Amino acid sequence: MEKKLEIVELNYKSSDKDKGRYIRAHTEIWNNPENHKYLSFTGQPFSDSMLEEWIYGLNKDSQMRYFTAIKTDIVIGIIVLKADVLNGFEICGLGIKPNFKRQGIGNQLVQKAIADAKNSNYRAIQTLVYADNLPMLMLTIKNGFQPYRIDINQRYDGANIVALKKQL
Ligand SMILES: CC(C)(COP(=O)(O)OP(=O)(O)OC[C@H]1O[C@@H](n2cnc3c(N)ncnc32)[C@H](O)[C@@H]1OP(=O)(O)O)[C@@H](O)C(=O)NCCC(=O)NCCS
Repeated sequence: MEKKLEIVELNYKSSDKDKGRYIRAHTEIWNNPENHKYLSFTGQPFSDSMLEEWIYGLNKDSQMRYFTAIKTDIVIGIIVLKADVLNGFEICGLGIKPNFKRQGIGNQLVQKAIADAKNSNYRAIQTLVYADNLPMLMLTIKNGFQPYRIDINQRYDGANIVALKKQL
């Protein structure tokens, strides 16, 4: 029988073993050549030490939230959220391991983000997507996000960004 997908939050209470596993998965997924240009402004690789600073710096009041999609004990997808009372609830990053794409995992993580924003009493959820990222534009629009702004020349190669928001 195929193992079920689990969505698990990584937070300040997580064990060092889980934090280490998260950090390795995050750098692997974010630096993957197929994913990297959709997740970076600069084209510079993400380093373990950068991730360690973020993950080991988490505390009970952190705005950042990290959800992992886990199958057969392997992290195959990650969504990074920011719950910011001044600027809104945001999807800051989403990445799926290339071999696991087009299996509905990104969709499940976006739906988890929407549920988390609602549970935290936010009225809207927003995200920034590069204008050349058809998969993420499709995924967000299918989930009820609407474009509301374009920011010109945001990535190292001049790509524009589309800002999208869903009312909750
Ligand atoms: C964007 C991304 C997260 C989608 O994850 P995924 O698990 O493959 O997506 P799903 O299987 O849940 O697909 C959901 C919908 O998204 C759209 N979609 C996904 N991949 C697509 C593709 N290659 N081309 C067109 N539409 C696509 C489709 O509408 C799809 O629904 P369908 O399968 O019923 O047609 C994944 O491609 C990824 O990790 N990309 C690199 C990193 C990135 O772009 N992150 C977003 C920036 S914040």
